[in-house]
Amino acid sequence: MLELEKYSISFLELFPAEFSRNISHKLTEWGLFPFITTRINQQNLKTQLGNIELANPLGIPSGLDKNATSIKGLFKTGISFLELGTVTPYPQAGNDKPRLFRIASSHELINRMGLNNHGAESIGSKLKQWSGSGIIGLSLGYNRNSNDPFQDFLNVITECGIYADYLALNISCPNINMDLDLSTPENLSTLLQKISWKQKDLGFDKPVYLKLSPDYEPTHLNEIISVSLEEGVDGFIATNSTISRPVSNNPIYQERGGLTGPYLFDISTKTLANVYSQTKGNLPIIGVGGISTAEDAYTKIKAGASALQLYTAICYQGTGLIKKICSGLSLLLEKDGYSNITEAVGIEHKNWLT
Ligand SMILES: Cc1cc2nc3c(=O)[nH]c(=O)nc-3n(C[C@H](O)[C@H](O)[C@H](O)COP(=O)(O)O)c2cc1C
Repeated sequence: MLELEKYSISFLELFPAEFSRNISHKLTEWGLFPFITTRINQQNLKTQLGNIELANPLGIPSGLDKNATSIKGLFKTGISFLELGTVTPYPQAGNDKPRLFRIASSHELINRMGLNNHGAESIGSKLKQWSGSGIIGLSLGYNRNSNDPFQDFLNVITECGIYADYLALNISCPNINMDLDLSTPENLSTLLQKISWKQKDLGFDKPVYLKLSPDYEPTHLNEIISVSLEEGVDGFIATNSTISRPVSNNPIYQERGGLTGPYLFDISTKTLANVYSQTKGNLPIIGVGGISTAEDAYTKIKAGASALQLYTAICYQGTGLIKKICSGLSLLLEKDGYSNITEAVGIEHKNWLT
């Protein structure tokens, strides 16, 4: 990690988690941070997410740039793709603060942000101005008081879908009061059909990725995958944060919300491997949850991920981690005799099946 970044993170850790997050976000938005652009040149990391070409497998998941304010700065970190949002049709403030908590000893976070964002119109106008070359995913959700959550997804697509390289359906957020569970087979099928019709109406066909919870029971996960395959989903994102907790006396674990960071690693990797197995490796999966080293990244690839995302580890270790993981991953592939990362996808998924 760059020394300056290391000291800044230590300094920011003196403040409440959301305040620190907002400061580093503003610095990125103003172009002050990262100061220099990181280049990732390892040829063996070039990969594909379906039809989308990626210069390397690392991306940032939804939740970090909820309002598309820091696209340029975040691409300077060396990532090849950035997922924005989650975006809802109307702006919403999210849950009351405090709603973001650090567990510094284990480099984890608990959040119950509640899909705070500036709304589809504002985010669409930011995306319209973006002319860079990085791959943009758009995470879609519905407003807290929505009368028609299905229509909310369609409204976000109408407003912003054209600017995205792929659409990510956030049906697994643990931080909104889910009166409607969009992961039931009936609701999921309805949602996917409506999205497909809407895209036809609008004259585009963006790949649709489904973001999964790590907390589904195995039978529920199987149902979700079956419906997704029937309705022609293009890929999966495994996974969102978990509502489960480690055995610990630390009172912070009693905070409501989704836990992210190292504790999530095994749980999300099991979900990833199960999805890979059930889809027979035919659909791309973005592996996310607890990645903080090159070894973690390699493990997720071998469990079935075509591309990767990380968030919590960046909060603790800084954006220099992207380059470090890419360099390490490239060496690990070389050591095992792979000429390209795609050759390693899924080769050890059976070790993670439950
Ligand atoms: C503060 C915070 C906000 C998040 N907001 C969203 C969100 O809006 N939509 C979403 O799909 N996931 C959201 N996530 C989940 C992340 O996208 C990711 O799935 C999760 O953090 C696991 O990865 P990690 O262990 O590398 O952090 C959020 C995570 C955090 C920590």
